[in-house]
Amino acid sequence: MTADVRHLSNRLAIDGGTPVRSTPLPWELPGAYYIDEEEKRLVNQVIDARSPFRFYGLDAQGMVDRLESEWCSTFGHKHALGVNSGSAALHIALAAFGVGPGDEVLVPGYMWVSCMSAIVRTGAIPRLVDIDGSFCMDPVDLERKIGPRSKAVLIVNMSGVMGRNDRIAEICRKHNLRLLEDCAQAIGASLKGRSAGSYGDIGIYSFQLNKNMTSGEGGLLVTEDEDLYKRCVALHDLGYARNAEGRLDPSDERYQYWGIGSRMSELSGAMALAQMRKVRKITTKMRDAKWKIREAIKDIPGIGLREVDDPAGDTGPVLITVYPTAEACQRFVDAIRAEGVRGPEGSLTCITMREWGMHWYFNIPSLVKKRSNAKEGFPWTHPANAFAADYSYAKGALPVCDAMSERAALLTVASVLSDSDIDDIIAAFRKVGNAFATYMKAAE
Ligand SMILES: Cc1ncc(COP(=O)(O)O)c(C=O)c1O
Repeated sequence: MTADVRHLSNRLAIDGGTPVRSTPLPWELPGAYYIDEEEKRLVNQVIDARSPFRFYGLDAQGMVDRLESEWCSTFGHKHALGVNSGSAALHIALAAFGVGPGDEVLVPGYMWVSCMSAIVRTGAIPRLVDIDGSFCMDPVDLERKIGPRSKAVLIVNMSGVMGRNDRIAEICRKHNLRLLEDCAQAIGASLKGRSAGSYGDIGIYSFQLNKNMTSGEGGLLVTEDEDLYKRCVALHDLGYARNAEGRLDPSDERYQYWGIGSRMSELSGAMALAQMRKVRKITTKMRDAKWKIREAIKDIPGIGLREVDDPAGDTGPVLITVYPTAEACQRFVDAIRAEGVRGPEGSLTCITMREWGMHWYFNIPSLVKKRSNAKEGFPWTHPANAFAADYSYAKGALPVCDAMSERAALLTVASVLSDSDIDDIIAAFRKVGNAFATYMKAAE
């Protein structure tokens, strides 16, 4: 009897049967597991040189410069700029587009809170767009929502996979809109041979701990446009360019701004450089595991799967499943967790999308309540934004997001899953799927 069939004949663990596994799955922190001597060597090089600042020092090692140039050659971009977070990169990009009061930025309702805060902090207004079966922005809803105030579109390559970026880029060209591509969760992804970040006028990435590679904190942006690049350079620093000696150089009147102080340190640059060189290995491991699981569970009645247009470009950190009802979704997730498909305490290994917090627009209190950092209510109260006075961000604004937040679940796919971990996950899905077949059919 195969392990799978043996499990099928057992009672569900949630009903008192024996679970498929009893040890937690590994924590979902893709790059962290791969930190080794290489990171140590490069970071130590910075410390030994006593030169943690990128622009000058006792013996600057050029780690951030190397990261930027290797990023461009690895992923096929013209300009790259290291920064200190993905959130900062979003803000810098929108500022470089010249977005501000009187403008709206179209953004999907499934994203991360940083996307909304970047828009609001420029003084512009977020305009919500629904998602489609790819769990990324729906190009059809985007076209419906474009209006006279639309200035830019912010798309988000969620959970390791790119959406319909090719179609969205075409829509942006047609309507003369700037496109910002948030690839924080999809470093190394591609769509039809083009890497994540190359569909946008600017693409941004994050190196925070949960991402496909990490330097703890850090981020990067890419663009093919030299003028945008120079604006970003000034904005991420103190508002101005730097000269060959690394000193501020305000002489070029085209690049005089208010900088946000988001330079990348050489320590982060060294970590990120070492991790970038491993990112293909990390994403291949996750993608292979995820697609093995996907293939094995795709015929289970009642379980739907996220649409992925280009599986070869998936980086694999998350498997999204969809259920006929919110109740079925909760029951299924509870049951596979009971079978041992869960991570260590504090991890988010196997959860319903209801537990996914500020990835959903209606879960962001500052957005729903139109909060401001300033006491007079900027940007919501700015006269140029009066057009958006009746915009609502409460649940109910986006039907597909609302439904998926209730009926979908996610399983993170760690970058170090063993074959037996993968077999256990498949066995748990099959065991629960088998027991749920009647229930799921009724719920359909
Ligand atoms: C989609 C998305 N955008 C932006 C960010 C912000 O990145 P950071 O945490 O580096 O500021 C994150 C992650 O945190 C993210 O998931």
